[in-house]
Amino acid sequence: MVKLAPSILSADFARLAADVRRVEQAGADYLHIDVMDGHFVPNITIGPPVVAALRPESKLVFDVHLMIERPENYIDDFIQAGADLVTVHVEACRHLHRTLARIRERGVRAGVALNPATPEEALKYVLPLVDLVLVMTVNPGFGGQVFISGVVPKIERLREMLARAGAAAEIEVDGGIGTDTAPLVAAAGAGVLVAGSAVFNHGDPARAIREIRAAAGN
Ligand code: DX5
Ligand code: ZN
Repeated sequence: MVKLAPSILSADFARLAADVRRVEQAGADYLHIDVMDGHFVPNITIGPPVVAALRPESKLVFDVHLMIERPENYIDDFIQAGADLVTVHVEACRHLHRTLARIRERGVRAGVALNPATPEEALKYVLPLVDLVLVMTVNPGFGGQVFISGVVPKIERLREMLARAGAAAEIEVDGGIGTDTAPLVAAAGAGVLVAGSAVFNHGDPARAIREIRAAAGN
């Protein structure tokens, strides 16, 4: 059974709590929160105060995707704000091992993200510290981009790599996920599907979630 993680990047920021409630009632599993700093990616979104404001509004797992430089400087702030899972990018971490260990030490789940150009081998020596691997199927920075199908084999290889290592990390896929691409990534081994525009730009987000789940095979 795949998990669905609607990304609030495509939600109505003026009515964020209402949009979160809608996807929670529709059976979303995680709430994917995209944090961008204008340096690691060419866009700026939200910071810890917005996460803290949403926390009392929802029981969903807060899946915080940090697309920022020096994420180690902000981990505590996002955990304090209510993150349940903090994901950092391999490409943004000079000391990835230390940063992942620190996230876990603070009592939340640790995730690590790979840009489309980054091979899964980058994770070889940190697998024991990882609860989730986020495979980007677009270049991070914006919602509504076109799915990069060339990344699908990376999901398969990552699944094999995790199995060989006896690692239990979840594989999450982010970027361009909808009813057309969900079957491809689910078949390749993804267990958590992020969907932003496909959910929030749909007239009926609850129906969009059901349709993506069905397309993924459940
Ligand atoms: C992209 C973000 C994604 C984005 C996905 O940088 O990490 O989470 O919101 O949006 P869609 O589903 O529209 O590609
Ligand atoms: Zn994301």
